[in-house]
Amino acid sequence: MLSRRSFLSTAAAGSALIGSRSVAPVMAATGRSSYSHAELEWKVKRHDFAGLTKHDLPTPNLVLDKDAFDKNLQTMASHCKEHGIGLRSHVKVHRSPEIGMLQIKSGAHGLCCATISECEIMMDAGAPGILWTCQPVGPNKFSRILALIKKDPTFMFAVEDPIIVDQLEAFAAAEKVTFNVVVDNDIGIGRQGVMPGTEGLELSQRVMKAKHLRLGGLMGYSGAASHAKGWKHRSEVSNDQVGRLMESVRLCRKAGIPVEIVTGGSTGSYNIDSQRKDGLTELQAGSYALMDSNYYHIGSQDGSESYNDFGIALTVLTTVISKHYPKKVSVDAGNKSMTQPTDMVKGRPDLRVERAGAEYGRILWDEADPEPKLGDQFDIVLSNLDMSVNCFDRMFVCKGDQVVDVYTVLARSGPSQH
Ligand SMILES: Cc1ncc(COP(=O)(O)O)c(C=O)c1O
Repeated sequence: MLSRRSFLSTAAAGSALIGSRSVAPVMAATGRSSYSHAELEWKVKRHDFAGLTKHDLPTPNLVLDKDAFDKNLQTMASHCKEHGIGLRSHVKVHRSPEIGMLQIKSGAHGLCCATISECEIMMDAGAPGILWTCQPVGPNKFSRILALIKKDPTFMFAVEDPIIVDQLEAFAAAEKVTFNVVVDNDIGIGRQGVMPGTEGLELSQRVMKAKHLRLGGLMGYSGAASHAKGWKHRSEVSNDQVGRLMESVRLCRKAGIPVEIVTGGSTGSYNIDSQRKDGLTELQAGSYALMDSNYYHIGSQDGSESYNDFGIALTVLTTVISKHYPKKVSVDAGNKSMTQPTDMVKGRPDLRVERAGAEYGRILWDEADPEPKLGDQFDIVLSNLDMSVNCFDRMFVCKGDQVVDVYTVLARSGPSQH
């Protein structure tokens, strides 16, 4: 293994050969220390983060700002507590068992998962109250919900079609188990769910008649409300869409069906949904833990254009790897990190992000102070957490620049997503 000292002296010797854009001057200019890659990976494997800063990491890499992250968890948990609404945090944006368990520790009573593999990984990590916000279709998914309910009798999932309700009842009877389900209502997203109202009532009645299914409650995710710009407009959209879900709830209760759980909501509508007297019993918000540039622009309740309720906690750290043209440099975070023109450079509103290929991104400016240099590093605030996080298998947890931990992104694509 190359020691840190021998790596630095090798780099210094090389600099004489390759001229002014060599590695050593770039390192010297940035004033950074460094570990060889092997040393770094060995330290990470041993969870020995002493002396390790984010600038020692290979780039591109996910970096989690621990202070902002902790504050986000706290803000959401205390808001829910104060307003008497439950929190079943969605894990689809981080897919990390460590983060899921921290959400539980900070006050969430359960976790929502978008895929069956997310459910499996979060349950393996010890998370209670898992709700799969999707309907199981086909034998593979049926075998897996069976394994999950045997492991944790509180496990729940969504249903939204009478064909599946009947199949589940027959399957559960044969396996001698009872499945907990919520009836999913399409309150505006147009991708899944029964029509709220009579259809919501009828499917709930069908579940009630099935001896091996237990109706936990009703669900309705308002995707349109989550990113609606401006708090007043967002309130109108959310209240309209949650109102549709409440029509199903009202009909069910009128028909004598107890509806314990009414689940939905998001990071954008958390402080709107929590105000309704006749609304959700729990929030499914997820992005609040990490935040992204799309959410940053939806506007706050106090009228400001940025959404300041939650801080930007997750970024992709990238390095300037080429500088040849005026007013632009190339960085090493490109399409493989799912960077987009709607991303932002943290702390640098004078810089813009552009795609430049699979392994390349571009940072551009009209007037920049200071101008980015070769070897500089930037934190890119992502537009779409779900997609970018899916490209990495770990995130480095930092306090300031100091690395203090590493969290796994276990439920990402690859074997864990089968
Ligand atoms: C069903 C469901 N519930 C809740 C959420 C959480 O939304 P957010 O991450 O915007 O808080 C999502 C996000 O896509 C979702 O699909």
